[in-house]
Amino acid sequence: MTGIEELLLSRIRDVQDYPEPGVTFKDITPLLADPAAFTVLTDALAEISVRSGATKIVGLEARGFILGAPVAVRAGLGFIPVRKAGKLPGATLGQTYDLEYGSAEIEVHAEDLSADDRVMVVDDVLATGGTAEASLQLIRRAGARVAGVAVLMELGFLGGRARLEPALEGAPLEAL
Ligand code: PRP
Repeated sequence: MTGIEELLLSRIRDVQDYPEPGVTFKDITPLLADPAAFTVLTDALAEISVRSGATKIVGLEARGFILGAPVAVRAGLGFIPVRKAGKLPGATLGQTYDLEYGSAEIEVHAEDLSADDRVMVVDDVLATGGTAEASLQLIRRAGARVAGVAVLMELGFLGGRARLEPALEGAPLEAL
C-alpha cells in the first residue's frame, strides 16, 4: 500500500449497521475534515483527470459534488453536477437505473455537455456501479465523450467494476 492509500484509508470511518442493519457505511467526513488528506485526494483525482485529457468534471450527487468541485478547480476544468431527478431548473436529460428494490433517476442540464467534451466522472464510492453506469449513459446521450471514472474507493465485493466495464468502452476506471 502506498503512503497516499494509507493516509486516505486512515481517514475513512466504518459505521456499522448504517443506513440499515448489516450494512457497513464508509463515512468520508473525517477525510473531508482533514485539510492535508483532502488536498492529497483532490490532487490525485485532478492528476487522473488531467492525464485523461478530460475537458469537464461531472460530479454525482451528493458526495461527488464535494469531491468533484475542488478537483475541477484544481484541474482547471468546468464542473457539471449530475443530480437526482427534479433538482435542476433548466432543460434536462434523464437516465433511470435499477436499484436492489425499485429504480432511481439522475439528470444533467442538456446544455452543459457537447460533442467537444471529454468527461471525467468523479464520485466517492463505486458500489454496485449503477449510478456511475447511468452517468456514462447520460454523458453519451448528451453527445459528449467519456474520459473515465475516478473514485476515492471501490467496494470490490459488490462487482461494480464488472457492471461498469461495457459502459466505459475502454475508458479507465481509477479507484484510489
Ligand atoms: C452513493 C455514492 C455513489 C453511489 C454508489 O450515493 O456516493 O454515488 O451511492 O452506489 P452504486 O455504485 O451502487 O450506484 P447515494 O446514492 O447514497 O447518494 P448521496 O451521496 O446523495 O447520499
